[in-house]
Amino acid sequence: MSTSIPLIESLYESNFRRKSDSVFRRVPAYVCDSCLNFSGNSYLALQDCREVIDEAARLSGDIFSGNMASRLISQSSPLYDLLESELADWKKCESALVFNSGYAANVGIIQAICDRHTDIFCDRLNHASILNGSLLSGARLLRYRHNDMGHLEELLHNSSSRHRLIVTDTVFSMDGDCAPLADICELGERYRCAVMVDEAHAAGIFGDSASGLVEDAGVESAVHIRMGTLSKAVAGLGGFFAGSAEIRDYLVNNASSFIYSTGLPHSILAFNLAAVRYIRKNPHLGKRLLDKAVKLREAFVSIGLDCMNSTTQIVPVLAGSAERALELSSFLKTHGISAPAIRTPTVPKGTDRIRFSVHLGIEDDDVESVFQIMRKIIANIHPTPPA
Ligand SMILES: Cc1ncc(COP(=O)(O)O)c(C=O)c1O
Repeated sequence: MSTSIPLIESLYESNFRRKSDSVFRRVPAYVCDSCLNFSGNSYLALQDCREVIDEAARLSGDIFSGNMASRLISQSSPLYDLLESELADWKKCESALVFNSGYAANVGIIQAICDRHTDIFCDRLNHASILNGSLLSGARLLRYRHNDMGHLEELLHNSSSRHRLIVTDTVFSMDGDCAPLADICELGERYRCAVMVDEAHAAGIFGDSASGLVEDAGVESAVHIRMGTLSKAVAGLGGFFAGSAEIRDYLVNNASSFIYSTGLPHSILAFNLAAVRYIRKNPHLGKRLLDKAVKLREAFVSIGLDCMNSTTQIVPVLAGSAERALELSSFLKTHGISAPAIRTPTVPKGTDRIRFSVHLGIEDDDVESVFQIMRKIIANIHPTPPA
């Protein structure tokens, strides 16, 4: 095949540059069961929870088929209605709408509700799907410095658009810190802005009924759009909107990723529903998870590692360069620990890191072993760049 086509050549050149800069991404090999896995997002370890699996099997009966078309054309699973009622009830909202992934939910919601007359105020560290939805909508995108309320207010103050949206992750996926929701909502109210939050890494963990950080911060009435995913603590697949019935109707009519994509299979909906019900029956699991994360973080900090501003189950260890992050991650792998190197462009240059994602499958002994291994590793390679 000819490679002298300029467009194709430019792809090869991009790959080459990424390899030279140690930021080339590869799909990792299957993580064996004997590996101590800190790389997943199934925080409550529900992917192999017997009670959830049995309930999912009961709910799906002997139907394992997928839907036949987009949900607007042909909805083939009664579980969609049950799941959406369960989610709305959990979030104490009028209604919910399930999308095929969290990514599809963010892109679909933002593309639908914003247009070129809208100003979107977006935290710099928000997830890529929020950024992509914003770009797709054609809105004016104003990114404020991470969690910097002074900067957000300055941008709001200078905006003359009537249609304004503030959007933030509640728990930041690569830093493990939390958005100041009370302050964001206060600014939202003062500047008559709609507020949208992404609870991907908070649902199942924070709040008395484990519905997320919005509940924990007591700001339910000031948040107009609550987005969540079914692929993290829930351990299934899908994403969702929770909010008013009017907004749900609007999304059904305008969100392209909902309208033009085939729905989820019945068996996945059964797993999602079983797992959400399980979490609602066991809302204390998040507290247990956060206690584990505190132990790991305190152990790392005690040997001089920089866990950034993490206060959640996501515990980053700053490496400072892509090469160093790769080196640390592969060292951990040789000791039977899977913890990914997170590099630019996923995180800002120079903040490359290892991301330890704590889950309930991690025992206290495991925390101790990973700590001892990290101690051994940093005696050989220093994890932060010399001052
Ligand atoms: C903050 C945040 N939002 C949205 C998503 C996308 O969710 P999903 O994996 O369900 O597509 C992710 C996934 O990593 C995420 O971290």
